[in-house]
Parts: sequence; structure tokens; C-alpha cells
Amino acid sequence: MAASGGITRRRFLGATAGAGLALVASGGVARALTGPAFLRDRGAPLPGPPFTLGVASGDPLHDRVVLWTRLAPDLLAPDGGLGTAPVPVRWQVATDERFAKVTAEGRTTARPEHAFSVHVDAKGLQPDREYFYRFRAGDQLSPVGRTRTAPADDAGLKHLRFAFSSCQNYQDGYFTAYKHMADEDVAFVAFLGDYIYENGVQPTAPRQHEGPEPMDLAAYRVRYGRYKSDLDLQAAHAAFPWIVTWDDHEVENNYANDRADDDTLPPDRFLERRAAAYKAWWEHQPVRLDPPDGPDLRIYRELGFGHTRQYRTNQPCNSPLDVGVACADTAAPTATLMGERQERWLRRSLQRSRARWRVVAQQVMVGRVNFVPGGTDPVFNFDQWDGYGAAQQRFVDTLDRAAHGNAVVITGDIHSSWVNDLNARPGDDASRTVATEFAGTSITSSFDFAAVVAGSIAGNPAVKYYEGERRGYAVCDLTADEWRTDYRYVSTVDSPDATIETAASFVVDHRKPGAQPA
Ligand SMILES: [Fe+2]
Repeated sequence: MAASGGITRRRFLGATAGAGLALVASGGVARALTGPAFLRDRGAPLPGPPFTLGVASGDPLHDRVVLWTRLAPDLLAPDGGLGTAPVPVRWQVATDERFAKVTAEGRTTARPEHAFSVHVDAKGLQPDREYFYRFRAGDQLSPVGRTRTAPADDAGLKHLRFAFSSCQNYQDGYFTAYKHMADEDVAFVAFLGDYIYENGVQPTAPRQHEGPEPMDLAAYRVRYGRYKSDLDLQAAHAAFPWIVTWDDHEVENNYANDRADDDTLPPDRFLERRAAAYKAWWEHQPVRLDPPDGPDLRIYRELGFGHTRQYRTNQPCNSPLDVGVACADTAAPTATLMGERQERWLRRSLQRSRARWRVVAQQVMVGRVNFVPGGTDPVFNFDQWDGYGAAQQRFVDTLDRAAHGNAVVITGDIHSSWVNDLNARPGDDASRTVATEFAGTSITSSFDFAAVVAGSIAGNPAVKYYEGERRGYAVCDLTADEWRTDYRYVSTVDSPDATIETAASFVVDHRKPGAQPA
């Protein structure tokens, strides 16, 4: 133990392969089950250090967690610079960061057809426990990641803290929020969509990703390579398990089912693009899902459920803009965001759950907002649940009846922060509050309508909080009796040296839906 004196966690997590190796070797690794073999058994040399995209873990259960990495000596090459031959990879999980006590280990293969990504479901772990993990490929050791299993189902959990984030447009600024998030004490991170943006290059932006807009698998891989190269993002992945879902920009802005935005591609070509985007998403996320084969991938799962765009019917009212005057379409009973199957799945999952708090992690805002209050007809954002009024009512009914007043919705997409009380009848402020929605801000993505929207808030009494100008993330603190959400904002996204502050806090009492300022 003394050998590791003075080595902080941060420094160790960031150690290079060589330094990590030396540190482990001097740290009593001889007690490890098979540590020496892990270090000795060197494969063929690779063309360069392969762990340029970091490591990640995700989808924690009480006895297992998914470990991820992708080998990419050349992080902007679609094949990572590795060509076509599979690469053997070894992995280890330990209870200590020096890997003296190895709990699980194994071998896997990074395959060219999956962009040399690795998804290991490490099993046989203890519930509610911190673990460390690492990979080896060729003669290189990965950085060390830290993860945590979920508590056992019957554990009398006193306290749980997690963070959620969404919308990280690389070109809109630096991911400094993640540098601060990595210092939080949270059990996991829920990511609610827009991990990449598909736009072409914006030369005047604070920083640039490569262009043009990706249309095929190779180009989506390059885009993920650029995003994953961000060291603040890597630090947040290496610090906690993530539960990841997607929104629209992982494919294309505002797509719906087989319809491209503004119908810029015919449906069959768009489905090819969607398949490429889903595949690249899977290749770069620590998710317990089989690799997609084609344009469909069921990503909703009971840790946090995802996915609306794949199943949604087209945005209503044929509006050229997201926002417009409500028309008959917005009340159409057949209009759907989740699709019938996912709606049923959600209802059953919430009903079956005995959890104290039932969290629905999803992408687009549920709370009704009339952007021109006082007018003859309401003005809605058709891309949100307001564009799908009948489905919105079914969703609220489900929260009300299945979750018995302990449902909380967390939401991404909107690039602004909201706390919304959800009425039993959306739009009827006199109707009961059945749940609360916390919509996060964005890591970097800007919100062009911040000031305009601010002017409409007073006419929407179910909106308890709104902030459109500031970027960051949210931290949720749960006890048996109270849910607390803190909104943390960075001072700027234009510089990597931003500071962070908690600017607003709201609480919800158990079984008493409705948010109050903390
Ligand atoms: Fe976004």
C-alpha cells in the first residue's frame, strides 16, 4: 500500500499505459489472482497507443456492468488505423485501483466490423459497490476506469445521488461541465441524448469538428472519434457508469421514424442512414444491447428508458418550424412518440416496480408550454409531447395511475433548464399535479430562443423554473422522503477554464407531486 502513497485517484486514472504498468507492478500485484499474466501476456504490437477514446462503463445492474472501449490508434480514421484484422483484448475488474484484488477478468476480441469497439458485460460483482477496470491490447494498458454496481433490489437504500446531462454540441464550446461532473460524488450519469451533432463545419464556432454532415457509417465513426477524444468527456466516463439514450442529432435533427428532416432523403435512403447512425452509436456507448443490424434497435430498457424518434409519427401540422399554432393533428389519437409497444412496456414497468421513486429518463419535454399565452389558439413546440397531445395524455395517465405519485421525469433535448409540474390534464392548470419533470440544460449546445421563451413563462403556471442562457448539468439527490435536483452551470463554454456553480435547487416530497424551491 505504501508504494502508492501520494498517487491520487485523478493522477492514477490519467496515468499513461507505461506509468500505470509501473505503478501496478510496484503495488503488490503479486497478490492478484492472475495479475502477472495480464501484464505479461503481450500481443502483437499495435501501430500506436490504442486507447485514444478512453474507457467507459454503463448500464449497471446489481451484479454486473458493461465495460467499453474502442481501439483507435488513429482516432479520426473510420477503422481507427487498425485495418481489418481482429485484435485480442483482455480486461480486468478489481476492488482497488491498483488491481491487487481482481474480482473478474477475461478475454474478448475487438472486431473490425464493430470499429474495434469492445462491450464486456462483467458479471459476478457485488451490489452497490465501487470497482475499477482496465483493458489491455497488444502491449498497451488502458487508463483505469471507476464504476459502481446498482444496489440490490431489496436493499433499504437510504440515499442515492446521480447526475444527468444532454446535448453536447462540440462546435458550441468546451465540455468543461464534464470536468466538474467528474469530481461529483454520484452513483451514475444518465445521458439523455444528442451525444454528437450531425451538422457540417461552422468555421466561426469556438471549436470545430470535421465535416461534412455524416451520411454513412465511416463518417459517423469519425464524428464519434472527434467527440470521444475530448478529455473532459473521457474523465466523466471514466469516473462513473453511464446510462445512455439518444435523441435526434445522433442521426439527424428532428427526424421521425423513416422520415428525414424536411424529407431531404427518400425513406429507403434515410433508413440506410439511420442504420449507419445507430450502428455507430452502439459502437461508441457502454450499453447492454446487441449490435444493431439494420435501421431498428430497441434501446429502451428498465434502467432508464430511451428512444422516441424511431417510433414517432411525423411532426404534426406540416409546420416548416418546430413551433407553431396548434392544429387538429396535435390531438390525433393515433399520433405517437413512443409507439404502442413501448407505451405498453412503460406502463407495465412502472406498475411492476416497487421502487420508492420511479424515474422516467427520456428526451423531449413532457410539460405543456404555450409559447404565446393569452392568444386564441395555443402555440406549441411540435417536436415535444405537446405536438402529440393524445399520447401526452396517455403518458401522464400512466405516470398517475402506475406510479402512484412517486414518478419523476428527467428530460433532455431542449437546451434549457425547466422544472414543470405535470397536470392530470395537460394545459388545464386547475387539474391535479401528478408528477414533476426536471429538464436539464445542455453541456454546450446553445438555445437561440432563450429570451423569447422567457417572456412566455409567466403565462404557464405549471412551469416552476426556467433558465435558457446557461449550460451545465443537473445532480439529483434522493432520499426516501425527498427528491432534490440541483442545477449546476458553468461560467462559460467559450473557455476550458470555466468555473461551476449551483444556481437553482428544487425538491419534491415523496407521494406529494409538485416541485418547490429548496
Ligand atoms: Fe440537443
